[in-house]
Amino acid sequence: MIADQAIRNDWHVVYRSRDLAESALRPIRLLGEDLVLWRSGGMAMAWLDLCIHRGSRLSMGRVLKGEMVCPYHGWRYDREGRCTLIPSQPDEPIPRRARAITYHCRESYGFVWVCMGEPAADIPPHPEWDDADYDKVYTGPYGFDSRGPRVVENVLDVTHFPFVHDAMLGQEGEPEAIGEYEVRQSSEGLRTSPVQVFQPAGDHRRVPVRSTYTFWCPRPLMPYLAKELGDQRRFSHFMPVTPVEDDRSLLWVLTSANYDKDGARARITARNNEIFGQDQPIVNGQRPALIPEDLRRELHVRADKLSVLYRRWLRELGVTGAGD
Ligand code: FES
Ligand SMILES: [Fe+2]
Repeated sequence: MIADQAIRNDWHVVYRSRDLAESALRPIRLLGEDLVLWRSGGMAMAWLDLCIHRGSRLSMGRVLKGEMVCPYHGWRYDREGRCTLIPSQPDEPIPRRARAITYHCRESYGFVWVCMGEPAADIPPHPEWDDADYDKVYTGPYGFDSRGPRVVENVLDVTHFPFVHDAMLGQEGEPEAIGEYEVRQSSEGLRTSPVQVFQPAGDHRRVPVRSTYTFWCPRPLMPYLAKELGDQRRFSHFMPVTPVEDDRSLLWVLTSANYDKDGARARITARNNEIFGQDQPIVNGQRPALIPEDLRRELHVRADKLSVLYRRWLRELGVTGAGD
């Protein structure tokens, strides 16, 4: 999965912008590789965490006068990744190959995004980002020992609510039948028509509500949901999933809510921590590889429509390892 071109050429969230201070150097993992994330002159940059001289970790170095200094022999690199100084022979020409291996890095919606291939498209839009009616709350990242598509499937799935989130998003004693809904596929990914569910504690106010969900997945690892709770109350989760390794993912959640602003921040945080904390052991415990091959295509049911179409879409995009 992490080697697929569709994943390499996509943008992935690696950090919160506000947590990457000027002159900071941070080691991170993305797509199974060690990267160094750093900031200089206000710009965020992501490079392979490797000095081309003797292979030391640049993340153990430091930033001096806006340049990166390797911890081993002090070679310096400018923001473009060019070596500007070899201290042991300062007056000799610097070989052209003395360069850091750099990746595309951008900042958007309060996150640092990295593309390790060639970006096939822009970072997807965030529908509520510029709407001042919506308060924004960041939670996570929640770690999963699972493939990115499994994490995405989990957040696009309403049928697990009564069992994994009993007394909050559903009721185990009275699981609801899920009505028909449409899934449209376009150049903007997958989008559903509204899906209604009754929820005993449908949001951070912990009141019973009939919620109407709309799901959208503009990219293989970029699920989004919007939820209407009546009386113009609405919130959304923007949820980039970062493929750290093939079987290790991070789920970042940016919640936007247009109501109940006073004091809601702490309650939204506590609620998201509780809900995604309930999902973690279930998703980590999934062992699809153990399902007998000849059963894998048989056990989808009607209410799994979004999940079935999500897998088909991933296959079309050339994303492997997403299930049958
Ligand atoms: S390994 Fe980086 S300067 Fe030698
Ligand atoms: Fe869940």
